[in-house]
Amino acid sequence: METIEQLKVHYQWRLEEEENLRKLSEFGAKYQQEWIGRLYSYLANFPDTSKYLPNEQVRERHNDKLKKWFVALFAAAHDAEYLRRLYRIGEVHVQIGLPPHYVSASMNFTRQFIYDKLAHEPNLPIALDQAVASVNKILDLNLDVMTGSFREEELKFYLASGRIQRFMIETMRRGLWLVDLFIIAAFAVAGLFLMLWIGYEMVLVATGKTTLEHGAIMIMGSVLILYAISELLNEEIRHLRGAALGLKVFIAVALAAVIRKILILSLEPGRTTELIVLAGLTISLAATHWLIIHAENKTAPFK
Ligand code: HEM
Repeated sequence: METIEQLKVHYQWRLEEEENLRKLSEFGAKYQQEWIGRLYSYLANFPDTSKYLPNEQVRERHNDKLKKWFVALFAAAHDAEYLRRLYRIGEVHVQIGLPPHYVSASMNFTRQFIYDKLAHEPNLPIALDQAVASVNKILDLNLDVMTGSFREEELKFYLASGRIQRFMIETMRRGLWLVDLFIIAAFAVAGLFLMLWIGYEMVLVATGKTTLEHGAIMIMGSVLILYAISELLNEEIRHLRGAALGLKVFIAVALAAVIRKILILSLEPGRTTELIVLAGLTISLAATHWLIIHAENKTAPFK
């Protein structure tokens, strides 16, 4: 862990930085409310925000702390106590399992927000380029310390394990990555075969080997399965990029498969019982799908 003095040397922090930021204290106080509102609207676009800020109570607590953090960017003495508070924020984020990506993106948003406001502020107490330079340093220092906690946490886990455990962790990590890659390749090949199959079904209709009604229904069924494969492929790619697997997509795929079966059976006479069973299955899958979406929306405070 670096001391505040070491960090200041690394960031070429001069006395001017302290003075510049202090002169911008009023600016910080003036825009804290607008910043927080805009940041939360921005965070609403992240798929898992509601997981980390699950209810109004946590959100309000965070809201309050964020405003203090924003004001302190300019007004606080940037000393050992300030650094301790930044480490604490990093630790809390690690404890709730917040991906560091969220913090980096929020910091980028904050930087853009401050630039924009500084550029349009009529009575800036210092030159714009000086203000921007000092703001950049304090934001970079914040980001460095906050995301440092995530790196330290990973490192602690890694160093705490023995050589054999480290080897096993690495092998498993690579193995899982290969499995994910294989699943993506398998889905892609299946999608390709299905496209060829749909083409074949179209040829059958065009050459009169299948009736138009039968052909159209078969093609619709195959397109549904293609849609399901594309959804699974998208979900797997998202998972490979670090997102959690979504249950919704599997229900949607099951729905597509059942609807396809219904389409095919509807062509055959005397299959009423099976059709009734499949209709029941469709309704329960649709209800499950709705319940998942409803639960997700309910826990998303920004929607
Ligand atoms: C610029 C980025 C951010 C800053 C400066 C920041 C700041 C803070 C601060 C000051 C605390 C209080 C730490 C303490 O208890 O001492 C905190 C806690 C927390 N942060 Fe952040 N945060 C940021 C981004 C985020 C994001 C993007 C999320 C979630 C999407 C998040 C979720 C939380 C949660 C859930 C807590 C614990 C709240 C509680 O239960 O009291 N933070 N953060």
